[in-house]
Amino acid sequence: MKKTIKDIAKEAGVSIATVSFIVNGKDQHISEATRQRVKDVMKKYNYIPNAMAGSLVTRRTGIIGLVLPDITNPFFPGIARGAEDRANEEGYSIIFCNTDDKIEVEEKYIESLSSKMVDGIIIAHSSNSEEMGEILERTQIPIILIDRDFDSKNILGKVLVNNKDGAYQAVCHMVERGYKKIAYLSGSLKTQTAMDRLEGYKEALKEKNLPVEEHLIKYGEYRAEWGRKGVKELLTEKRDFDAVFCGNDLIAIGAMKELLKNGYKVPEDKGVMGFDDIYMAQMVEPELTTVKQPNYEMGYQAVDLLIKHLKEKKSTKSHTVEKKTSMVMLNTEITERKSI
Ligand code: RIB
Repeated sequence: MKKTIKDIAKEAGVSIATVSFIVNGKDQHISEATRQRVKDVMKKYNYIPNAMAGSLVTRRTGIIGLVLPDITNPFFPGIARGAEDRANEEGYSIIFCNTDDKIEVEEKYIESLSSKMVDGIIIAHSSNSEEMGEILERTQIPIILIDRDFDSKNILGKVLVNNKDGAYQAVCHMVERGYKKIAYLSGSLKTQTAMDRLEGYKEALKEKNLPVEEHLIKYGEYRAEWGRKGVKELLTEKRDFDAVFCGNDLIAIGAMKELLKNGYKVPEDKGVMGFDDIYMAQMVEPELTTVKQPNYEMGYQAVDLLIKHLKEKKSTKSHTVEKKTSMVMLNTEITERKSI
């Protein structure tokens, strides 16, 4: 009959926790003799530990949940890659959840990850809504926000990018290249990233003594289809614009396609600039000038922040480590190509 962790502990004359610490490699405090005796018993019965049984004792699963809004957008796999590399360095696994920017899916995943007792959740949420706040507040698992900011006291840490400055630098860059009537196609204003970029866009125009013209600002979502639709609206409304700054690269690619389809040359007739610097930015013609976000580094730092907290919590042996939100703020840089 298959032996349980309880059988192994009984035959080796130790507690279940001791066997669990040995199984999970957290046995520095256990004598070599005891460790060897337990391993001999495990070998005798060809014991394969049940990961969940071990975690019930150590309250650690070695698993981190990563919740992202849109796996079809190449920006997010870059985050996942950085997160996975840092997790692997420390022997953690990642459970990846794609939410399609739907809060009801986020809620379902957060509850499912909590029931699986993951050691922490890293999330780029879909909206700054009250509902999201309630979901985050009631989550018992340590939460790290990534990419999209949100004010909640139940957040352990945040890894963000200075989106307002990134947009500000981009629009100043466009003005310095001679553009004077720059339209802006925004991503979803439910996200802090879109709100911050809008602020940076407006601040740059004011800085360069150019008017902020509300009819040149269109609000949509972080998708290529919205880029096409936004340009279509600007053209139909016969708006006078000489360039388009876009909330992300997918919007920019859609905008560029619609301009080209309507007979405009990019950048000769109208410039286009994006945000993210996904790999597709250099695959389109003309290659997209954009704002590079350090998405790999964001994912790597988010897992690093979480693991540091878990180690601190373990070393203090207290169940409640003082709740203070750690912040990592990363910067963007302009990637100059051919679209402005
Ligand atoms: O491309 C998706 C956008 O949503 C990115 O710019 C990222 O910042 C996220 O907020």
